[in-house]
Amino acid sequence: MKFDTPATTNPIDQLKVVGKPLDRVDGPLKVTGRAPYAYERHDVGAKPAVGYVLGAGIAKGRIQAMDLAAAKRAPGVLAIVTAENAGKLELGKFNTAKLLGGPDIDHYHQAIAVVVAETFEQARAAAGLIKVEYAPTQGAFDLASARDGAVVPKNANAPADTAVGDFGRAFAAAAVKLDESYTTPDHSHAMMEPHASMAAWEGDSLTVWTSNQMIAWAAGDIAKTLGMPNGKVRVISPYIGGGFGSKLFVRADAVIAALAAKAAGRPVKVALPRPLIANNTTHRPATIQRVRLGAGSDGKITAIGHETWSGNLPDGSPEEAVAQTRLLYAGANRMTATRLALLDLPEGNAMRAPGEAPGLMALEIAMDEMAEKLGMDPIEFRILNDTQVDPEDPKRPFSLRQLTECYRTGAEKFGWSARRARTGQVRDGRWLVGMGAASAFRNNLTMASGARVRLGSDGVVTVETDMTDIGTGSYTIIAQTAAEMMGVPLEKVVVRLGDSSFPASSGSGGQWGANSSTAGVYAACVKLREAVAGQLGFDAATAEFADGEVRGGGKSVPLGDAAKAREIMVEDKIEFDKEMTNSKQQSTFGAHFVEVGVDVATAEVRIRRMLAVCSAGRILNPKSARSQVIGAMVMGAGAALMEELAVDKTRGFFVNHDLAGYEVPVHADIPHQDVIFLDDTDPMSSPMKAKGVGELGICGVAAAIANAIYNASGARVRDYPVTLDKIL
Ligand code: MOS
Repeated sequence: MKFDTPATTNPIDQLKVVGKPLDRVDGPLKVTGRAPYAYERHDVGAKPAVGYVLGAGIAKGRIQAMDLAAAKRAPGVLAIVTAENAGKLELGKFNTAKLLGGPDIDHYHQAIAVVVAETFEQARAAAGLIKVEYAPTQGAFDLASARDGAVVPKNANAPADTAVGDFGRAFAAAAVKLDESYTTPDHSHAMMEPHASMAAWEGDSLTVWTSNQMIAWAAGDIAKTLGMPNGKVRVISPYIGGGFGSKLFVRADAVIAALAAKAAGRPVKVALPRPLIANNTTHRPATIQRVRLGAGSDGKITAIGHETWSGNLPDGSPEEAVAQTRLLYAGANRMTATRLALLDLPEGNAMRAPGEAPGLMALEIAMDEMAEKLGMDPIEFRILNDTQVDPEDPKRPFSLRQLTECYRTGAEKFGWSARRARTGQVRDGRWLVGMGAASAFRNNLTMASGARVRLGSDGVVTVETDMTDIGTGSYTIIAQTAAEMMGVPLEKVVVRLGDSSFPASSGSGGQWGANSSTAGVYAACVKLREAVAGQLGFDAATAEFADGEVRGGGKSVPLGDAAKAREIMVEDKIEFDKEMTNSKQQSTFGAHFVEVGVDVATAEVRIRRMLAVCSAGRILNPKSARSQVIGAMVMGAGAALMEELAVDKTRGFFVNHDLAGYEVPVHADIPHQDVIFLDDTDPMSSPMKAKGVGELGICGVAAAIANAIYNASGARVRDYPVTLDKIL
């Protein structure tokens, strides 16, 4: 189904099942430990051996010699694979560095060997006996020093430079101006389930059970890396214990499990131990950002400029931290610039709203600072500079933009009017108390998405698509979509996900998954309705599908009767017409409100209250959407207050590579959270009229916290995380 005109009324609009806060259909499996994750599959044919990955002990250079003799003799060892005996390996389409390195080393902990043994302990012990002789060379590991050599990136999604009007002149002439720099550190995804894969060969066919957000990309890249035809690789990933971007692309565990299984002649499972994840896989790159704002004394922005610098390996992409600045506020004179420095740290890549999340960490402090310079309330300043059209292309309106409504609703609910404009005015015992706000913005991306639906004579509707559920609720909203379309209760829908033998879907990333994948299921269900109507002699255009029956022309027939002779199976996909979808700017908006306490003596920060108001398309399931947003707000709190990969700038690796050293928020760090969804039914986004909301939830939170800390204490910190030493 081509989506090339705005959606009109369709069966989804009944909202009998869609739009209801239903519990997750996969919840019981998860909480009883019966959901099979990749490392614990028991249906692989034979007892799997275990592979232990050895990571490079230098960040850049060459392996001179590798002595495997002692490891080969160690108890239980079945095989050792290195670049020397692995055969020819290609670089995957989505990989920046080889997943099995050597002799050249591109980054610290790049995989250089896998030891396969009967048990994990045997494999690990044997890996410790491998002697590697390195010839290290000097690498670049410090963004601040590499910044001067930064260049225009060649692998970017958006233009590196944008300019509208005459920024330089307007900024120079502005009555009130701000020119500040902000820094965000390297971040680790820190998802619960590590990268893990189990691989098994049957002749020249490979099956990989893994943990991955994008099944078709994964199957394609495993095939490309191993030089196999696409059809010979099957990827299965029905349950994923968190991704946050770390599992958008195939990582070492998947390819190495395949190589190890071939060498050992039986299934092999490989999990990357936590210390390997930070340096072997990927992370969110640190940024240095400069924001310049110019305004008239009336508060109207006349000049807005945002530049960002980040680092990556050769062929890596930049952190596109200026993305939101191109679209968020009005202002006739504008510039953005994205620069990339060469660093020999592990690969930087997408994490938790790449671009906008770190970009808003800078822009939304700058907006707070500018409001103060203007003597305006920071929310009124933002509302004054709101826009209903793309500020870079005023002929292009937003499909639906309710930023002002988000602020008005939130301010009322949060009690913003009690905020004092002057800092350090409110005291509660030992706490200095303050409030902060910030805009949330994330684009609404769409991706083609396919699904197959089957109808059995028992009236059960089975949906199959390679869509993934990374803890987001995909199973549930897909079940709701099929139930609504076919007029059956939720119990009559079976959803099967995460298998490359199913139709290719949008996958999970960039908050495009919910809207795109359900729209694909919608398209397949439209086809199934037609097939059912044809089979039962109804007019497809007017037949009603309700309560497990098909009705029309005075008769009603059980749905399952259509499949009496044989199961009905149809397949379709939604394809988004670019010209139509680009005719209006589709984005999601929100406003974050935070109240913090700052200890008057120690500068310890405690978040006291958080509220997010979101306008993000039709909300398909308010319960799972709320869970997405509050989870994202927790991540925003992490980014504001604690998350930071510490770089060893001499040896070139992340030092705090485990969950003891890389701090993420715990329950005690997070107060009661509120989320409000505005009605935002957007016919431009898809037949579902939904958008994404997961990543919107993190965008802006960290700045709202930093702004609240400033309001409480008077300490303006522009270097994340905002730890107490920077406040004191
Ligand atoms: Mo998201 S960082 O695109 O998985």
